[in-house]
Amino acid sequence: MKSRTLGKSGIRASEIGLGCWQLGGDFGPIDDARATATMQAAMDAGITFFDTADVYGGGSSETRVGAFVKGKSGISVATKVGRSADLFPTEFDYADVRRHLVESCERLGVETLDLIQLHCIPPALLQSGEIFATMDRLVAEGLCSHWGASVETIAEAKICLAQAGCSSLQIIFNIFRQDAVTDLFPLAKAANVGIIVRLPLASGLLTGKFTADTKFDETDHRNYNADGAAFSVGETFSGIPMAKGVELLAKIKPLVPEGMSLADFALRWILDHDAVTTVIAGCSKPEQVQQNARASDLAPLSAETHKALADIYAAEIRQHIRSDI
Ligand SMILES: NC(=O)c1ccc[n+]([C@@H]2O[C@H](COP(=O)([O-])OP(=O)(O)OC[C@H]3O[C@@H](n4cnc5c(N)ncnc54)[C@H](OP(=O)(O)O)[C@@H]3O)[C@@H](O)[C@H]2O)c1
Repeated sequence: MKSRTLGKSGIRASEIGLGCWQLGGDFGPIDDARATATMQAAMDAGITFFDTADVYGGGSSETRVGAFVKGKSGISVATKVGRSADLFPTEFDYADVRRHLVESCERLGVETLDLIQLHCIPPALLQSGEIFATMDRLVAEGLCSHWGASVETIAEAKICLAQAGCSSLQIIFNIFRQDAVTDLFPLAKAANVGIIVRLPLASGLLTGKFTADTKFDETDHRNYNADGAAFSVGETFSGIPMAKGVELLAKIKPLVPEGMSLADFALRWILDHDAVTTVIAGCSKPEQVQQNARASDLAPLSAETHKALADIYAAEIRQHIRSDI
């Protein structure tokens, strides 16, 4: 497993990280044993970067991560603040944000968070800018070592990367969401802001394991948010209608080199962009972690393959994304 440096934070992060939303049960139920086995598989595979949030599973993702990393060294944990009902969408007072960080510290069993990310907060708050002073203050107080932002759109990302204190941006980036290559990565590199890639597999679509008829557990956001009924439509299947995503895979599969799975291909394509620091593939079981980890050691895809994927995106995919990009 290779590692890269997360922008100005200096954190060394494994190229494949672990997305821990699943460990809170928001992709269907998961018990303590399976959550622990998934994190252990990540550690065994050399994964040193975990991503969670205060709201995942109502705090249970952070609690499980905290229990797992206790007494272990070498894992950086990024968490988030901003989507709990008492903050979102309007109240982001310093005291309230601070209280949430203290609670995350308690669940994670630390005094200082490695990285706290604003969690897709309203664009108006990013534009007004007061929240950035709050984040700088929380770093200065020692409650967190670094701050970054998880955002929905490239416009939001640009606001954040202009802040001197912003170390990282977490964005949706995958074969179904390619705009950042031209519109964001050059700016992020120039600002020395690390890129954390979420939804690398478009909620699993880019593994090729779903059909248009696949059904999900009622507690799974791929059931209740498939069309954006609960939160941003861009966060489930990257904003592509599931059946359309399954159909579009027919254009992509012929480009996958022999011996590579579609998931390997999707993850490798992301890692081929040097602005990317780490890819936080979400996993609901240990075998998925083991499979995803190997993308770090695969050879880069050819320039022809990159060109073909860019062309397919422009001609056939982008028009189907239902959220702002
Ligand atoms: N707003 C935000 O800040 C935000 C939003 C979304 C996600 N995130 C973070 O980003 C992480 C990744 O995003 P995501 O989990 O939504 O999307 P994702 O990584 O694109 O997809 C995750 C799903 O793909 C499937 N999968 C993963 N590896 C697989 C493999 N090797 N073979 C077959 N299936 C595989 C699993 O499906 P099954 O569950 O069906 O097994 C898993 O639940 C999250 O865990 C979370 O930490 C942040």
